[in-house]
Amino acid sequence: MLILGIDTSCDETSAGIVEDGLRMRANIISSQAAVHAQYGGVVPEVASRHHMEAMIPAVQAALNTAGCSREDLDAIAVTAGPGLAGCLLVGLNTAKALSFAWDKPLIAVNHLEGHIYANWLDREPVPEMPAIILIVSGAHTELVLVRDHGEYELLGSTRDDAAGEAFDKAARLLGLGFPGGPLIQKKATEASAKPPRLPRAMLGNSLDFSFSGLKTAVRTMALEGEVPVADIAAGFQASVVDVLTKKTQRAVEQHDVRCVLLSGGVAANGPLRASLQASLPVPVFYPPPILCTDNGAMIAAAAYYRAQSGATGLALDARPSWPIALPV
Ligand code: KG4
Ligand code: ZN
Repeated sequence: MLILGIDTSCDETSAGIVEDGLRMRANIISSQAAVHAQYGGVVPEVASRHHMEAMIPAVQAALNTAGCSREDLDAIAVTAGPGLAGCLLVGLNTAKALSFAWDKPLIAVNHLEGHIYANWLDREPVPEMPAIILIVSGAHTELVLVRDHGEYELLGSTRDDAAGEAFDKAARLLGLGFPGGPLIQKKATEASAKPPRLPRAMLGNSLDFSFSGLKTAVRTMALEGEVPVADIAAGFQASVVDVLTKKTQRAVEQHDVRCVLLSGGVAANGPLRASLQASLPVPVFYPPPILCTDNGAMIAAAAYYRAQSGATGLALDARPSWPIALPV
């Protein structure tokens, strides 16, 4: 089964083509990072305008790369949420139009479900379930129990900033640029042997997260100007990695799972990967960096399993706050 997957939830315009939820035939990603860098974050209106320009060329490039024509496609999948409303609408309306014009079923996919299935792409053997997934991106920080295909339980999420958002805001406070994650990771390698210990919000027994106190600590330290930027970056990163690791560890202790999956832009963070691998009693899987960030292939992969329960009608609307644990 060949599925075209479209994602325009934030600032990447992407179209991917995946066979049977596993084999990636194309994954075209048109990133707007350079456009938003001058503002220090994603500007929703600017993002949706760029999606409109980049969407159809991305679909065309995906078909060319996969070496197939529209007749070969079995379905068209699209992120319906969560994400920025104006951005979601571009992908959604494109997918609806193609579905109608090409007479292909339309499948709505939850963006977070897409991040889960990024772990299934071009991997042998595929991850075994039940699994815990830690989704850490610019917009999300979620711990989800994946019991089986389509069966999710939300174990914890952020109460304020997402992990990637915290990286981006901290980088801005430290004058490092955007997107902040890779820049903080790089800067932290220049730190002294004893960077400052920054606060960790553990929130009792909860599996929820909070990064706003940490952000304030970075701000205060940056304004005081006594600690070198590289040391603040290292202290910040160590705090985020420690909290993400401990909460994931706790989730694994509470549920009998076969593995831990990692996804979202922050999953590209080297110290986070190393920390999880060193401290968890089960295997840790993470996609290659290009599949950690937003992409259409992961949406096509997730849609393969959604397709078993039928297509979505054309009346579908964008769902900017669609939670992962609720059905389509
Ligand atoms: O998944 P993604 O592309 O977009 C959203 O759905 O939000 O994630 C982007 C986020 C940004 O906040 C970026 O700073 C962060 O992922 N990120 C990283 C790294 N690479 C990207 N955070 C920490 N370390 C990295 N190496
Ligand atoms: Zn994402």
